[in-house]
Amino acid sequence: MSFVTVENLFQSYGPRPILDRVNVTVEEGEFISIVGASGCGKSTFLRLLLAQERPSRGEIRIDGNPPAVEPGLERGVVFQRYSVFPHMTVRDNIVAGEAFQHRWGRFFGAEKRAARERADTVLARIGLAHVADQYPATLSGGMQQRLAIGQALTARPRILLLDEPFGALDPGTRLSMHDFLTELRAETGMTVFMVTHDLSEGFKLGDRVLVFDKPRWDPDDPEAFGATITYDFDARNGGIPFQTIKEKTHVPLPA
Ligand SMILES: Nc1ncnc2c1ncn2[C@@H]1O[C@H](COP(=O)(O)OP(=O)(O)OP(=O)(O)O)[C@@H](O)[C@H]1O
Ligand SMILES: [Mg+2]
Repeated sequence: MSFVTVENLFQSYGPRPILDRVNVTVEEGEFISIVGASGCGKSTFLRLLLAQERPSRGEIRIDGNPPAVEPGLERGVVFQRYSVFPHMTVRDNIVAGEAFQHRWGRFFGAEKRAARERADTVLARIGLAHVADQYPATLSGGMQQRLAIGQALTARPRILLLDEPFGALDPGTRLSMHDFLTELRAETGMTVFMVTHDLSEGFKLGDRVLVFDKPRWDPDDPEAFGATITYDFDARNGGIPFQTIKEKTHVPLPA
């Protein structure tokens, strides 16, 4: 049995189809990159994996069960927009990321001091040690994004969902975040879904690259059809497709 199974997944908002018959299986520990045009439903797919939304039709199973609605232990997430806690210092944001793993979501006393020390190690690794006592609002966009990534990774979730996590970073920082993510993944064996608009990043980090696209396309009504996974590339083997789902078909124009 695969770790994550997505079967005939449909999602529409009102009458508008967004995702149309998405099928995919993912093994535990795989790194899945997701690419596709803006608006084709990549973030929607992540929200469905997070159970923030319920699909219109179809099914998602994680380890044999529907994804749990509660946030926290199993799935970590870095949203497309920054997701840090504005009322907590940088260090406490990292501590909170780890605290999600604990049943009470909080540390006290000696445990808290130890968690703060671990947070400082993480902050050093993501280059934010010097701003540990500041609040997120005082950081640049790229620094906030790094903090969000550090926070999600510190919780060592079984599944990490990343929605364009490196979008706001300069090229050098982006490369060091790649290394950080690769190391943490090797340590934890977590399963990763990462949406990116950067194909080379997708192939560099991913074991597989899934392409979301609309196989049916009506030039007069681009929103008439939803997107599905049209390609599933083996990024570790020269980018050879495992699977090409469908050729793109243009819907004939009415006479
Ligand atoms: N809650 C919602 N209600 C109605 N429409 C929505 C909702 N969420 C998303 N949409 C629409 O669904 C489509 C897919 O959105 P989504 O955010 O998943 O795209 P995306 O592939 O992540 O795009 P981008 O690359 O720009 O981030 C968009 O047209 C969006 O406007
Ligand atoms: Mg998106």
